[in-house]
Amino acid sequence: MIPEPLPDVRQLLAFYLEAGVDCALADEPINRLVEPEAAPAPAAAVARPAAASPAGRLPAPAIIPPRGEPPPPPEAAIASAREAALTAPTLEALRELLENFDGCALKQTATRLVFADGNPQARIMLVGEAPGRDEDIEGLPFVGRSGKLLDRMIGAIGLDRSKVYIANVIPWRPPGNRTPTPQETQICLPFIRRQIELVDPDVLVTLGNPSTQAILGTTEGIMRSRGKWRDYDTGKRTIRAIATFHPAYLLRSPSYKRLSWQDLRAIAKVMAV
Ligand code: URA
Repeated sequence: MIPEPLPDVRQLLAFYLEAGVDCALADEPINRLVEPEAAPAPAAAVARPAAASPAGRLPAPAIIPPRGEPPPPPEAAIASAREAALTAPTLEALRELLENFDGCALKQTATRLVFADGNPQARIMLVGEAPGRDEDIEGLPFVGRSGKLLDRMIGAIGLDRSKVYIANVIPWRPPGNRTPTPQETQICLPFIRRQIELVDPDVLVTLGNPSTQAILGTTEGIMRSRGKWRDYDTGKRTIRAIATFHPAYLLRSPSYKRLSWQDLRAIAKVMAV
């Protein structure tokens, strides 16, 4: 039998792209087949002055250790995030804190922090899951295809980005748009909670299942959780919160736009009060 010719570089790159591999995680290739060296001791502190930051979803692999230093154990990172988030008196301070926070390994593979977009004085805040490729490039949430649909959705009830505040549970793009791990979500949660507290909107809208489950603490799927008003305690007061479909989901399943329109109308009604 004649052996298949080896693929050339162009074919290999095309294969990687098709498989969703669209960014390099390190400067040098790592041969995962050789025996790893003895694991170094875990780092204790996680919130420290920043070193220069390096510049649809797949299943989550294990947390990727940052270059140079191992990540702190998840429990230490979660505790450190909880403690650190509370110390931010303003949104600017919170953004700076996140720029300097090294407890989440996603920061090492993302190009930049995607903190928020829109008006911090807005009466309505929308929270998605995590930035994708376009958001990672631009440093703003919801600027890609699903962001364009989100703009149309809020436009349908008379809103635009000058009248809403938009953020994500996870502020760094997971590599290859994979699903954030439960640990990554737990590490980032105190920061988005503090962000909600500082924006202090009248209405909080969670977009899609992961954001709804993380922020509103629900266990049911989006089909059941959407469209129901709930109370969310910001830390300062109780505000009205509602879940609706993620625009990326609506792009894949346009038949749910009808239900999404019901949610938007419910939101518009509450906003009018
Ligand atoms: N999906 C999200 O959940 N957030 C973004 O910012 C973009 C896409």
